[in-house]
Amino acid sequence: VHKRPLAGRQVVVTAGGTKEAIDPVRYLTNRSSGKMGYALAEAALAAGAEVTLVAATKRPYSPAIHFVYAPSAKEMLSAVQKAMPTADAFIGAAAVSDYALANPFEQKVKKSQPDEHLVLDLIQNPDILKTVGQEKKAGQVVIGFAAETQNLLANAEKKLASKHADMIVANDVTAPQAGFDKDSNQVTLIQEGQEPVSIGPKSKQAVAQDIVAHLVTILDR
Ligand code: PMT
Repeated sequence: VHKRPLAGRQVVVTAGGTKEAIDPVRYLTNRSSGKMGYALAEAALAAGAEVTLVAATKRPYSPAIHFVYAPSAKEMLSAVQKAMPTADAFIGAAAVSDYALANPFEQKVKKSQPDEHLVLDLIQNPDILKTVGQEKKAGQVVIGFAAETQNLLANAEKKLASKHADMIVANDVTAPQAGFDKDSNQVTLIQEGQEPVSIGPKSKQAVAQDIVAHLVTILDR
């Protein structure tokens, strides 16, 4: 077996929970720590790839990784689109906010009347995985995640088709040793016309190595 099976390959990974501005001091976000995406970036680097990590959450990373900080979905999309033309693979592990404020406040929001409601008008964000899937060139491999709280495999299969992905990592985020901010994960890999593959529960580093091994197989097909 080749020790650096991704040598000469470029891999783009997204990680973390995006932050959508409410006003200059506040944002909307989610529970993603970035651990899964950073583990994937490190696993791809260890396998010999040139790695671009586009992250909405800051954590330590190997100096050989090309790091781009992209806190919002829009910033993440443009950083990913900049890296994709020369990439061999995309792995979308980020928890991207589906919504952003239609009009973020220019000044810090102040309380007024005691019983006043503050209503935030949210519009849909771009779907980064779907965009990459639609724009993918021959030979490029696109891997997405599906963070689900119910109907895991059915929802993951829908995402495989709707996002034009080659593989979906289905993540039951209600499992005790899996999901947001945990050090371990438990996932099922879904590919068109193949039996689902169950992985874990085990460390996010070990899960990342398995996902990268599947990426190698898909690239070699
Ligand atoms: O970061 P950790 O704390 O380690 O947690 C890991 C994780 C639970 C965040 C990770 O394993 C995971 O499941 N990531 C995907 C989270 C998510 O947003 O899932 P989703 O089912 O909402 O999205 C499906 C896919 O579309 C994902 O690949 C997501 O990156 C992508 N997406 C979603 C919305 C959007 N606007 N753009 C996207 O690219």
